[in-house]
Amino acid sequence: MTLTDTRRQAPPAVVARDLTKVYGEGDAQVHALRAVNVSFATGAFTAIMGPSGSGKSTLMHCLAGLDAATSGTVHIGDVELTGLNDRQLTLLRRERIGFVFQAFNLLPTLTAEQNIRLPLDIAARQADQQLFDRVIETVGLKDRLGHRPSELSGGQQQRVAVARALISKPQVIFADEPTGNLDSRSGAEVLSFLRTSVRELGQTIVMVTHDPVAASYADRVVFLRDGELVTEIGAPTPQSVLDTLVRLERA
Ligand SMILES: Nc1ncnc2c1ncn2[C@@H]1O[C@H](COP(=O)(O)OP(=O)(O)OP(=O)(O)O)[C@@H](O)[C@H]1O
Ligand SMILES: [Mg+2]
Repeated sequence: MTLTDTRRQAPPAVVARDLTKVYGEGDAQVHALRAVNVSFATGAFTAIMGPSGSGKSTLMHCLAGLDAATSGTVHIGDVELTGLNDRQLTLLRRERIGFVFQAFNLLPTLTAEQNIRLPLDIAARQADQQLFDRVIETVGLKDRLGHRPSELSGGQQQRVAVARALISKPQVIFADEPTGNLDSRSGAEVLSFLRTSVRELGQTIVMVTHDPVAASYADRVVFLRDGELVTEIGAPTPQSVLDTLVRLERA
């Protein structure tokens, strides 16, 4: 069975139904998400876009169990995240979800290799050596494994952060502006690596970004405005993403 067949047969990695998030009370209420319905296919790379304040980070945080929704449900695979207590959520995040943030969040005293293995050490899990080798191969950092973060470029540090997320084979990786702190060349490195990990390792990735070029690396782009999912496009190009953003601003 090919990877494409697997993808076609697999149920979605993440499903949100009527997801609503209200911050504050009374006059100070902000409806950050208004009954969002969206699902993210297994083995696909999806970008979330929308104007500042449209609810992108809120959506990602609710999907990842970092923030509690006001109402609605989130499923990660067959687990309903919205029904879990704090302890169960912590376990689910550790075992099924990977994170990549704008700040690389690497531990400065550990080498690249130690940083990559850290989630497995914390969970007291054995590294799958074959996967480790494959991730290192894909990440292209074989000769940098002994370096500390301060001895790596920004793009290399972010690739270490992505490798760290990949190594525990999470059901989904959430990335919030992963190239926000990078120049365009390092950003392109990280984005190609994200795309390769989807193509070659079958990883599912959901990425929030402001950048039409970054979004064009994804298989699909969904657009938020005022807490609502308003449209989406497949096989995005920088131009088609830009056109959609302009159309949304005008509407
Ligand atoms: N902790 C909070 N308390 C109150 N309001 C909040 C809180 N976090 C976010 N909001 C509001 O919810 C709305 C959505 O915010 P969110 O951070 O999800 O937007 P975003 O699309 O990620 O924006 P950006 O592109 O600027 O990162 C905004 O109006 C924001 O002011
Ligand atoms: Mg945000």
